[in-house]
Amino acid sequence: MEYSEKVMEHFVNPHNVGKLEDADGIGEVGNAKCGDIMKMYLKIENDIITDVKFNTYGCASAIATSSIATDMIKGQPLSEALKLTNKAVVEALDGLPAVKIHCSVLAEQAIKAAVKDYYDKNGIEYNKADFEFEDHHH
Ligand code: FES
Repeated sequence: MEYSEKVMEHFVNPHNVGKLEDADGIGEVGNAKCGDIMKMYLKIENDIITDVKFNTYGCASAIATSSIATDMIKGQPLSEALKLTNKAVVEALDGLPAVKIHCSVLAEQAIKAAVKDYYDKNGIEYNKADFEFEDHHH
């Protein structure tokens, strides 16, 4: 299995790892294929993601995709973060081995789950169809 240089960079030195104690939205999702878990913390001000951190028990691909995905949404409005697809993340990493594509879905779903958590906590209306994925929130 071959990883791109970008994947290795983000795996060896992942960005935005950890936890935000004062997060406005927290998303936790699990990967049905491997059982790995991803937790995403968002700090949100005026609909802008001002800070983001993640924690995962996932594999190298899950770590690399989350690292680059969190870089991509930091400083962005929520509407942009919700548009982030695992495909865009995989492209930003110069690709992933086919058997590892399922790992990249975790980051996208955890971001969505965290935004949904923020909306729910603040009574903000949203389109349920934008959040169609299995929710493993505990
Ligand atoms: Fe579980 Fe990659 S094998 S996230």
